[in-house]
Amino acid sequence: MSWFLRRFSRKLAVGFCALVCLAMASTDLLLNRVLRRHMMEELSANLLAQAGLAAAPLDAGTFARRSPLLAERAAALGKAASCRLTLIGADGTVLADSSLPDERVPSLENHRDRPEVRATLARGKGVSIRRSSTVGEDELYAAVRVDGAGGPAGVVRLALPLTQVEKRIGRIRRSLAAVTLGLLPAALLASLWLSRSLSRPLEDIRATAERLASGDFSARVRDLPSDEHRQLALTLNEMASRIQENLGRLERLEKMRKDFVANVSHELRTPLSAVKAYAETLASGGPEDPRGRAEFTREIEKNADRMARLVDDLLALSEIESGGRPPAKEPVSLMRVAAEAAAALKPLAERKRIALRVEPFPDMPELSVDRSQVKQVLTNLLDNAVKHTPEAGTVRVWAAVEPGHAAVFVQDTGCGIPAEHLPRIFERFYRVDKSRSREMGGTGLGLAIVKHIVEAHGGTVAAECPPGQGSTFRFTLPLPS
Ligand SMILES: Nc1ncnc2c1ncn2[C@@H]1O[C@H](COP(=O)(O)OP(=O)(O)O)[C@@H](O)[C@H]1O
Ligand SMILES: [Mg+2]
Repeated sequence: MSWFLRRFSRKLAVGFCALVCLAMASTDLLLNRVLRRHMMEELSANLLAQAGLAAAPLDAGTFARRSPLLAERAAALGKAASCRLTLIGADGTVLADSSLPDERVPSLENHRDRPEVRATLARGKGVSIRRSSTVGEDELYAAVRVDGAGGPAGVVRLALPLTQVEKRIGRIRRSLAAVTLGLLPAALLASLWLSRSLSRPLEDIRATAERLASGDFSARVRDLPSDEHRQLALTLNEMASRIQENLGRLERLEKMRKDFVANVSHELRTPLSAVKAYAETLASGGPEDPRGRAEFTREIEKNADRMARLVDDLLALSEIESGGRPPAKEPVSLMRVAAEAAAALKPLAERKRIALRVEPFPDMPELSVDRSQVKQVLTNLLDNAVKHTPEAGTVRVWAAVEPGHAAVFVQDTGCGIPAEHLPRIFERFYRVDKSRSREMGGTGLGLAIVKHIVEAHGGTVAAECPPGQGSTFRFTLPLPS
C-alpha cells in the first residue's frame, strides 16, 4: 500500500470510528434522558394500575385497625404485585407493610405528609419518586384511595425500587456499548474497503503525476476511472501528451538549429578560406604578371560577394522567420512587380540568349501584399529559372485569377528537378547539385526565402517538373477581399 493510500485510509478510518462513537454516544444520551423519562411514566402508570387492582377487593373495614390478618393480606397482595405494598389509614398511620414484619409497623412514622399519600388523600391517587425513609432506597410510589361511606378510609400504596429501573437502563446501555465495540472493527473494515475503492483511481492518477513530475512524459493513467475522477485522469493524460509533443517539437527545432549553424559555418568557410589563400599568395609576392594578380583580386572579390550574398539571404530569412517584419501590405500590381524583377535579370538572360517573357496577366486585380517581398519571390524564382536554363531557352512568367487566390507561374525550359529532390528543395541549403549551385553564385537559401514569404502571405508554393520539360514553379497570393 502506498504512502498516499495509507494516509487516505487512516483519515477515513478515524472519521468512520469517530462517526460510530458519536452516533452511539448520542444514542446513549438520548436513552438516558428520553428513555428514562418514558420508562418512569410507563412504570408510574403501571404501578398506579396495580395499586388500583390491589385496592379493588378492599373496603373501609380493612382500614379499621392493625391486625395480623391485615399484615398477612398486605404480604399476599404485595407478593401478587411483586413489589412493596403499604396500607395506610386515612389519618396517615401505617397499618401494614409487606416488606416489614408486623411488629415493626407500629414504630413507623405517620405517613400523612408523604407526597403521594397527601395527594392520594386529596385527589384519589398519587405518584412520587423519592428516597424511602423506611427501606432507605430511591423508590417509585403509586397510591390509590379506598373510600368508605363516611369519606376516605385509607390508602393502598405500592413502591418499586428505582434500582430496578436503573438496572434495566444499565442493561440497555451495556448492550449499546457492546454494539459500539462490535461496530468499531466493522467501521475500520468498511473504511479500509472504501478508501481502497476510492483511492485506487486516485492512486493511479497520483503515480502518473509523479512520473510526469520526474520527467517521464510517456506516463499515462491506464485504468481510466469511471467516476468523478475520470475528468482529472483525462486532463492529466492530455497534458502529458501535449508536453510530450512539445518536447518532440522542441527537439526537432533544436536539431534544425544545430544543422543550420553547421550549414552556415560550412557555407562561410569555403569562400573565407579561398579569400585567405588568395590574399596570402598576393601578400607573399604572388604571380608576377599583372593579369595573374588581377585574376587573384577578382577571385577575392567573387568570394567576398558570395559571403555578402549569404549574409544578406540569412538576414532576410531570419527576419521573415522570426516574424520580425510582418508583410507590409499595400496595393500592388503583380504585373509591374514581375516586370521589374525580370528587368533585373535581363542582362544575365541576354548573355545566355534566353527569352525572358512576362506575359499579360488578364483580369488580375491589384493585390494587397508586401511589394518588396513579392518582388523578392519573383526575383529568386526567375534567377533560378535563368540559371538552370541552357543557352537559347525560354523563361516565362504569367499569372491567373483562380478561385480564392491569384496564382503566379514561373516556367523554364531548363534541366528540371528530379522527382526525388522535389520535396526538399524548399529547405534551407538544400541543393540538387551543390557545387553547380555555388558555381552559379547560389546560397541554397533562395527557395527557403520564397516559401517563407509566400506562407507569411497565406499562400502556398510548389514546383512541378515533368521529365524533359524544364520546371514550373507556382505560388499563390490571396486576392483582395
Ligand atoms: N528552375 C530550376 N530548375 C532546376 N533546378 C532548380 C530550379 N530552381 C531551383 N532548383 C534547384 O533547387 C535548389 C535550391 O534553390 P535555391 O534555394 O534557390 O538555392 P540556390 O539557387 O542558391 O542553389 C537549387 O540548388 C537547384 O538545385
Ligand atoms: Mg536560387
